[in-house]
Amino acid sequence: MTSTLITGIGLLSTQADIGDVRGAAVILDGDRIAWVGSANDAPEADARLDVDGRAVIPGFVDSHAHLVFAGERSAEFAARMSGQPYSAGGIRSTVTATRAASDEELRANVDRLTRELLRSGSTTFEIKSGYGLTTHDESRSLRIAREFTHETTYLGAHVVAPEFADDPAGYVALVTGTMLDACAPHARWVDVFCDRGAFDADQARAILTAGIGAGLAPRVHANQLQHGPGVQVAVEMGAASADHCTHLDDDDVAALADSGTVATLLPGAEFSTRSPYPDARRLIDSGVNVALATDCNPGSSFTTSMPFCIAVAVRDMHMTPAEALTAATVGGARALRRSDIGRIEVGARADLVVLDAPDPIHLAYRPGVDLIHQVWRGGAPVRRAVDER
Ligand code: NIG
Ligand code: FE
Repeated sequence: MTSTLITGIGLLSTQADIGDVRGAAVILDGDRIAWVGSANDAPEADARLDVDGRAVIPGFVDSHAHLVFAGERSAEFAARMSGQPYSAGGIRSTVTATRAASDEELRANVDRLTRELLRSGSTTFEIKSGYGLTTHDESRSLRIAREFTHETTYLGAHVVAPEFADDPAGYVALVTGTMLDACAPHARWVDVFCDRGAFDADQARAILTAGIGAGLAPRVHANQLQHGPGVQVAVEMGAASADHCTHLDDDDVAALADSGTVATLLPGAEFSTRSPYPDARRLIDSGVNVALATDCNPGSSFTTSMPFCIAVAVRDMHMTPAEALTAATVGGARALRRSDIGRIEVGARADLVVLDAPDPIHLAYRPGVDLIHQVWRGGAPVRRAVDER
């Protein structure tokens, strides 16, 4: 194992107790962070990298992405920008394309999107199924997802499969029975879209309960399209995360604040569906743990860029730059119940981003500009500065 001393750091944002540090250095040893402290006190290492006054932050943790699909829906996006509303029904056109695609085509698309994620600084990402909606297509989606991440989520309950349009109870029986049996070995999480046009509270409970019985941990797509029971179901079932949280009442906010359930906000979805953003200030000021994620999918949010989500969260959701960075790193880690990622501290996985900026505020201050200078994942450089290639 070789160790690398990263020095010349303008500002180190650790997300750990010591907060932002100037004049800091970090030592990576193998796949872990071995030392963090003042550059003046840094011990020797096998190699040395001077980042010339740049800011260093933890790798982003994208805790919500739908990457196993085929096709694209740019025409639907263009129609929305001309006034059409978003509806869950669009999911079915991606289902048709996904079922028709070969494993190789699906794998190539996930490969392309995960490269985008890594290039933009996301060193951990979750991947959901949910565009197959048959036992065969959901399980192959998860098998392919597992080739790219351990954080795989069974979302057979994305919408009712078209074949079951007249028999939603039959579809829930499939999702909680044969389909679950085939998918559980490839998944860590179970998710359900509990919203208008998808699944109601009782169906969501049944789906999560079955998933938990099969050894999966719950998370919920909740309160995206309208106010509904999703958040309460998530809290009641001990979900790691309630995702979207766009339409909340006071009881929802209080329930989240009192729970171990993270509110995962997905500004790409509101941006791309031209919908009102979730009230991040109300959540944070009420003591709710908040995460930011991309929700990358071909319908409601076709972005892999956490810097974009941070910029929108700061500009339009009234998060401070520091809150947005925290939500995109340690917040995402909490939403995945992980303590080994999302922060720069001794023993954590060596996942770092070197920014082409002196301060992470620039992630929101310079929207749309690629500020990712270098990415380290598990101690290995996955993206080098353009001028070093
Ligand atoms: O998280 N809300 C449900 N699922 C996705 C959208 C999927 C689609 O439109 O294809 C989401 O936004
Ligand atoms: Fe989603």
